Amino acid sequence: MADTTTYQTLSTRHLLGIKYITVEDIKLILDTAQEFKQVINRPIKKVPSLRDITIANLFFENSTRTKLSFELAEKRLSADVINFSSSGSSVKKGETLLDTVNNILSMKIDIIVMRHPSPGAHVLLSKHVDCNIINAGDGTHEHPTQALLDAYSMQEKIGNLKGKKIAIIGDIKHSRVALSNIFCLTKLGAKVTVCGPPTLIPPHLESLGVSVEYNIDKVLAWCDVANVLRIQLERQNISYIPSLREYAMYYGVNMERLNKLNKQIVIMHPGPINRGVEITSDVADSEHSIILDQVENGVAVRMAVLYLLARKKQK
Ligand code: CP
Repeated sequence: MADTTTYQTLSTRHLLGIKYITVEDIKLILDTAQEFKQVINRPIKKVPSLRDITIANLFFENSTRTKLSFELAEKRLSADVINFSSSGSSVKKGETLLDTVNNILSMKIDIIVMRHPSPGAHVLLSKHVDCNIINAGDGTHEHPTQALLDAYSMQEKIGNLKGKKIAIIGDIKHSRVALSNIFCLTKLGAKVTVCGPPTLIPPHLESLGVSVEYNIDKVLAWCDVANVLRIQLERQNISYIPSLREYAMYYGVNMERLNKLNKQIVIMHPGPINRGVEITSDVADSEHSIILDQVENGVAVRMAVLYLLARKKQK
C-alpha cells in the first residue's frame, strides 16, 4: 500500500452503516479501494495484508454478490475464512443470534461479516461481542458496502461527486441500498433525488437532505446517474403497486425513455435485476450501464473496508 493511507485509520472499529461513519472515513475507504483495484488487476492478485486474521461470513439471508465478493476480498488479502449460512444450521433448532455468534467467536474470530433480515441486528451485536463487525445488509435498514461500491463506481465514471445529480429510482421503502446510498452520497456532497410510486417512498424522506420526484421522465432528464432499484416483493406483505406490468410502464427504465434524453446518463443497479420490470434488458446490457463494473469494484471496496478495520483492531 502507498504511504498516503498507511497511517490513516477509520474513526470506528465497526462498519454498521454509512450513517455512523464520517465523510473522512468514506474518502479513506474510497482512496484505499483505488489502490486495491490496482492490486486485483495485477497478474498476482493476492497480498499478505490480513495474514493471521480470521474472518467469519455469517449469512442469515440469501446473497450472491455480497457473499462471494466478501469471500474473494478476504482471500485476496490472505485472511483465513469460514462461511456460515443459516439454512442448514442450528438456527433452525431455535438458537438465538447471540448464542450462534458467541459460539462462532469462541473459535478465535477477528472480524464478522454478517447479513441479517432484522434491521439493527449488527448494532445489537456490537454491544455484546468483542470483534470487528461489518454489516453486509440488515433487513430494510442499511447495506453500507453496497453504497461505498456504488459511490466508488460513480466517481470512477463521472469524477468527484460534489454537486453531481444522482437519481435513486424504484422501491425506496424496502431498500437498504437506497438508505445507505442517501447517507453516502449526501455526505460526499452530491444532489440526490429519489423517484418511485408514492406508495414506495417513505414519508419525510426530505429530512435526509434529498428531493422526491414521482415523474420518472423528469428525474431522468435531471440526473447524471440513475441508480435503479429492484422491486422487493419478498418484503411486501401488502401490495404497494397494482401490477408489475403497470410498474414497468410508469417507472421502468427502458431505451425509449433514455432515447428521449438529449444526453447520456450512467445507469446502475445493485442486483439482482428483475429484467423487464424496473429495467429492460437492452438498458441493463447497454453502454449506459455500469452494472458489472459495480460488481468488480465491490471486491476492491470490500478489501479496503476489511484492511482498514483490521488495522483498527491492531491499534
Ligand atoms: N447487491 C446485493 O446485495 O446483492 P446480493 O443480495 O446478491 O448480495
